[in-house]
Amino acid sequence: MTIDPSIGPERARAVFDEELARSGSADLLQALRHRWVARSGSWMAAFMEGVARAAPEQKKALGRGANDLKKHVETALEARETALAAARRPAGAVDITLSGRAPRLGWRHPLSLIRDQVGAIFSRLGYQVLEGPEIEDDYHNFEALNMPADHPARDMQDTLYLAEPLMPATYDAPPRGRAPRGPQPLTLLRTHTSAMQIRQMERQDPPVRLVAVGPVYRRDNLDLTHTPMFHQVEGLVVGRGVTLADLKGTLTSMAAALFGSGQAVRFRPSFFPYTEPSAEVDIRCIRCHGDGCPMCKRTGWLEILGSGMVHPAVFEYVGYDPDEVTGFAFGMGIERVALLKWGVEDIRLFYENDLRFLEQFGR
Ligand code: DAH
Repeated sequence: MTIDPSIGPERARAVFDEELARSGSADLLQALRHRWVARSGSWMAAFMEGVARAAPEQKKALGRGANDLKKHVETALEARETALAAARRPAGAVDITLSGRAPRLGWRHPLSLIRDQVGAIFSRLGYQVLEGPEIEDDYHNFEALNMPADHPARDMQDTLYLAEPLMPATYDAPPRGRAPRGPQPLTLLRTHTSAMQIRQMERQDPPVRLVAVGPVYRRDNLDLTHTPMFHQVEGLVVGRGVTLADLKGTLTSMAAALFGSGQAVRFRPSFFPYTEPSAEVDIRCIRCHGDGCPMCKRTGWLEILGSGMVHPAVFEYVGYDPDEVTGFAFGMGIERVALLKWGVEDIRLFYENDLRFLEQFGR
């Protein structure tokens, strides 16, 4: 539209409003501003010239009209410019309307899944969940568990010894019990997590409710069911009036939580030097449900753990009074639970880091 101030401010205003409505971008808006309010060659400049040339008696009315138009144009331009600026994305801004890129999630290791599940089961029951040293001294791994030097039960698990014993970096003397005064040389890789029973009872008065989880080591050759390093969960409960019924109830409900409700278990008399009486716990075969199959060697049962009532001699080692407190303990292999639960036939698969295997168990 060409500039024609003779159409008068009323009409001009309508023209401007129409042009404004069509100026949706910053560029168009700038051109509009130029066309209407530039110092020369614009609508406003033409109007002002018209006012200057007008006869004196018309000047006043024409001047007011031109001024009103100018005010309207400038306010409208400014309002539109502010609105456009507010709508503009700041440089470098994130476009939150873009759909996201899914991060590649890993899988937790199947042994970690079992470990965490057992930890959760027992934390719910108010147990503390502990870890402990993998390099041990003879006292905690054997002697205080009622296996003095030369005790034949030491052969129940073949021990890996360090070529050079280590002295512990720190030493906190246990407040009571029979632990040797002073630090002991660390001579071996712990053969079971039962050592943690002793360590915790030494530093804590009864009652005790703990599970201790972690790696243990034995002189075994790798085969379908053995590795020289594997993992155990140890459990220990000590207090006034703890009975074999508590042990049975606890382990029965643990089996249900791990393998499914209604999981049948049986307690079979056994021997461990640190428990009396002792029992091994079997679950009904997961595969054949008791009919007998190769997995359970036709017995209908699968052994999952060792357990028993804490031997009074163990209490004496840690300075608990066996006339005051009783307790139960158990030790379970994490690999064994995983093998049974998922029907894995070769324990070595847990250590070979083949993702096709590891990705099957969940996160
Ligand atoms: N320490 C045993 C093992 O490694 C398992 C065990 C049996 C732990 C009986 C216990 C227990 O606490 O009471 O085979």
